[in-house]
Formats: sequence, C-alpha cells, structure tokens
Amino acid sequence: MKVLVIGNGGREHALAWKLLDSPKIQTVFVAPGNGGTALDNRLHNVPLTDFNELADFVQKEKIVLTVVGPEAPLAGGVVDVFRARGLRVFGPTKAAAQLESSKAFAKEFMKRHKIPTAAYETFSDAKLAHAYVDKHGAPIVIKADGLAAGKGVVVATTLELAHEAIDWMLLDDKLGVAHNAGGARVVIEHFLEGEEASFIVLCDGKHVVSLATSQDHKRLQDNDQGPNTGGMGAYSPAPVVTPNVHAKVMHEIVMPTIQGMAKDGIPFTGFLYAGLMIDSNGDPRTVEFNCRMGDPETQPIMMRLKSDLFDVLMHATDGTLDQVDLKWDRRVALGVVMAAAGYPLNPRKGDVIKGLPAASADAMVFHAGTTLKDNDVVTSGGRVLCVTALGDSVKLAQQRAYEVLQGVNFDGAQYRQDIGHRAIKR
Ligand code: AMP
Ligand code: GLY
Repeated sequence: MKVLVIGNGGREHALAWKLLDSPKIQTVFVAPGNGGTALDNRLHNVPLTDFNELADFVQKEKIVLTVVGPEAPLAGGVVDVFRARGLRVFGPTKAAAQLESSKAFAKEFMKRHKIPTAAYETFSDAKLAHAYVDKHGAPIVIKADGLAAGKGVVVATTLELAHEAIDWMLLDDKLGVAHNAGGARVVIEHFLEGEEASFIVLCDGKHVVSLATSQDHKRLQDNDQGPNTGGMGAYSPAPVVTPNVHAKVMHEIVMPTIQGMAKDGIPFTGFLYAGLMIDSNGDPRTVEFNCRMGDPETQPIMMRLKSDLFDVLMHATDGTLDQVDLKWDRRVALGVVMAAAGYPLNPRKGDVIKGLPAASADAMVFHAGTTLKDNDVVTSGGRVLCVTALGDSVKLAQQRAYEVLQGVNFDGAQYRQDIGHRAIKR
C-alpha cells in the first residue's frame, strides 16, 4: 500500500522513516519533503503543497492514508479538503486546529471546560493591555493570537519588556505575521513556574492513546539562554512525567479536552500535543496546545516506537484507537538539532553539509532544512538536522548522539551541547 506524509521538516522525515517499517507499506510519498527524504531511495518526494493538487495526486496514486505533519496546512483546512473528497487523512479539521492556531480559542476552551492553565485575559486594545500588565506585574507572558512559528510569545521578566511586547504585537508590524494584518489580539497570562514537558496523544475523535513522553529545549543556547526557537533538541521519555503525573495529565487535561471538543461539535482527530508546565507538587498545567506532533520531539519518539505506525494510524482513522496498545523501546532516545548560521532570526542557506553517516541500529540523522543540489546536500532552512540516538540511559543516548554529530559538519552550524541536561541532573 501507499501512504503520503505532508510536510518538509524533521518531524515528517521521522514519520516517513517509521512508516517504512510496516510490512504493508510499499511506497511512502513525502510532499514536498526535504534533502533527507530525497536521499532515501525508499521515500519519494512530491513537489506539491496545494491541497487540491495533493488530493488529486492521492486519488491518482491510490494512496490509502495521508498524514499531515505541520500546523500550517492543518490550520488551512487540508483535512477538510481531503475528507470532502472521501480520502483517508489523519489530522484535525480546520475548526479543531484552532486549539493551536488561535491562542484565544484555546484559552476560552480551557476556561469553559475547566482544564488547568494559566489565568489570562485577551486584548485588542493596547491601552487596556498595558493597564492589565501594570496591575499584575512581572513576570508575565504576552502571546500574539495566531500562528507565529514559536516567535509570538514573550515571557516578560520585567514590566518594561511586557509593555514593549504589547506594543510590537498590537501596534507595530515587526513580527510580520498574519495576526498583525488587522484585528490583532494578544493573550496576556500569568507566569507559570515548573518544568515543561511535551505530552502527545493520538485521538480518533473519541478514544485516546498516549505516545511516549518527551521534553524539548526551546532556547537557542546552552543552559536555556538566548532566544526561543522551534526546538533545539528533545529526548524521550521525560522523567518529570512520573506515572502519577501521567495519570493527572490524562484525567485533568487530555480527556476533558477530547470530550470538550466532541461536546462542542468539533471532535478532535489527529495528534494532540499538550505543552505542559509541571509544578513542584506534580500538578500539570497546559501552556499550549498544538494540533500536531512536536518537532523535534517526533524524532526521538519515532526511534522508540516499536508498533507498526501504519496499523496505528489506520485504527486512528477508523475510530478504533481503543484497540491499540503501543509498544516502546525501553531505551532513551535523544536528538540534537543542528541549526543554520543566523537561526532563528535570519538563517543562512546554501551551506554544504559533509560527513552525513549511514544509518545505524542506534542512531539516525533526520533532515529538516536540507535540499539536494547537484551531488551535495545543502542547508535550506533554520533547523537543518536532528541527530538522534538510542542509549540505555539519558547519558548514554546523549553520548552517542554527540559522537555521531561530531562527524557531521557545515559552515556556521549551531547546536546545544547540553541536550538532556534536566534528566541527567535528576
Ligand atoms: P507557547 O508558544 O505558548 O508554548 O510558549 C512558548 C514558551 O513560552 C513555552 O514553551 C514556555 O517556555 C513559555 N511560556 C508560555 N506560556 C507561559 C506561562 N504562562 N508561564 C511560563 N512560561 C510560559
Ligand atoms: N518542539 C515544539 C513544537 O513542536 O511545538
């Protein structure tokens, strides 16, 4: 059978790579894919992004299942287009994707369904927003409403920074993203203390299966310094999610979300990613929802998944996830992102990547911002590679990932040296 993965990042390389494991799969197409999916001769890149052209391609090739990786096509309604044509697709509808695409929608939803999250208010009037911040003091968090690729959130440690953030989100045009086109809104919320974790589940509208837990590293530099990024590395499992915390997350956050969406008439199908803040009592709060898998969390998670992903996704699109029990490698997987010079603000493109290793049983280099040019693999985006390895402990997985990473190079490569540090200190 044939399947299609939509997207071109490291997450999509990992999903496509995992789907190849299924004995039922003959061909995996990736649209548009990247240099890594082009290099693997079992994967086939398709240069399409238009939803109707993708649906035409799926019909022509008799593709049985499409999986959508990134938020942008989901928020744009690709699932609605596919479903209207009777095509099997895994992901949320445009309406359900609002859990990620609109912070205001997500916060209102959580308030209504009593899902633990930071207290907040929504503003479109800058004066009122400034007054709210003055009243509550710092630290405080200012979020632009709308997709902003991780750049629309300011954790303001001082009142001055909070006021500045309000002005550039509501009044200026610096962010250059859609929410500034008019009717801009910000969500201002209380600062949450604790440790973050990524909690991702598969949903079929009704049933839920949780994936292995993971933890991302959002800041660019070691010791969590520097600007926020899409994620500089991740590992799985996340020790902060103890069995007790896991049960609380399912009971207080995940199930009320799935049931709440169904009750509101917008059942959630797809990967649901709850970004959590877990306090010192082990109480989880929702920092954000994403309507897709995490990147780079997917890379370590897929390295640990032993079940047949194709079978699982067929159940997920049949509404029979209650019949699925996922099997995991007991080892830790850890992925280190290599990013381009200038990332995150202004990544440089076109640097030649050398020393890419052949795949081995315990390590895999997933590609993100890469492309093939003549006979070279060259950088073509901010996050370029995610070097991912398995090990019997976080420390060993970390050692192996950095060992493989040492062999890979391109001009200006930036990476963190401390991926996994929280789990190692524990
Ligand atoms: P978001 O895009 O909403 O996930 O926010 C990006 C990052 O900002 C999160 O991963 C957190 O590190 C931080 N953050 C967001 N909201 C809060 C909050 N209420 N309290 C503390 N940190 C936050
Ligand atoms: N790694 C964070 C995200 O995918 O949103």
